[in-house]
Amino acid sequence: MKRLILTVSLALALTMTASANGNEVSRTKTLVAYFSFPIDSGKEALDATSGASVTIKNGRHFGNAQFIAMTIADTLGESADLFEIDTGDHYPRDYKKIFNATQSEQRKNVKPKLLKRVQNIAQYDKIVIVCPVWWYKMPLAVQSFLDEYDLSDKTIYLSVTHGGSRSAGIEREIAAAEPKATVSKNMLILSRSDTAKSEQKIKDWAKGL
Ligand SMILES: Cc1cc2nc3c(=O)[nH]c(=O)nc-3n(C[C@H](O)[C@H](O)[C@H](O)COP(=O)(O)O)c2cc1C
Repeated sequence: MKRLILTVSLALALTMTASANGNEVSRTKTLVAYFSFPIDSGKEALDATSGASVTIKNGRHFGNAQFIAMTIADTLGESADLFEIDTGDHYPRDYKKIFNATQSEQRKNVKPKLLKRVQNIAQYDKIVIVCPVWWYKMPLAVQSFLDEYDLSDKTIYLSVTHGGSRSAGIEREIAAAEPKATVSKNMLILSRSDTAKSEQKIKDWAKGL
């Protein structure tokens, strides 16, 4: 009799652990949120080898952060959703004009309006933010995104693409904006001239999240 009770208890305990693990797996979802601004006019914009704001893959043009975010989301598969931090036509798609427009916006700290909203942010445990450095900081569009959502208790991973500034301290800006989130030190920082050739590196990083 004792042995029977022991066997039943053990079986019950095992079932409960399995279902607890099952719940845990289904709760782990990742949002890959990116801001990217491929500039589509001018020689520099289209010449990926000179390190411009475009990654060319199989003849298709992507913004560098867009390419990184898509690769991460593809690698994570069904457990991840891809979300564009979308400012529509707020910024000029011209290499010279965008520098003036964003510099004055950044000086005045005017945050752009976003066109899309995340459906049910509560379902995500992990948030991957992918963005370029703009004027030695994170683009104000990313700040708009952080203003819109409370990411407390979530883990935030960061991937930055840049023209020389590396992460530019964007991880600290994110930590200040989301003080109750954990901002991982495990960042993926890619120079714009390395993005196109870093597909495997991006995949490996994503697998470790
Ligand atoms: C308005 C603007 C400002 C930028 N400021 C910086 C900067 O301060 N430091 C830096 O390293 N790169 C800077 N860059 C270069 C971008 O970070 C780099 O080209 C990045 O790969 C662009 O990513 P995207 O194609 O996803 O927009 C700037 C680019 C733009 C358009």
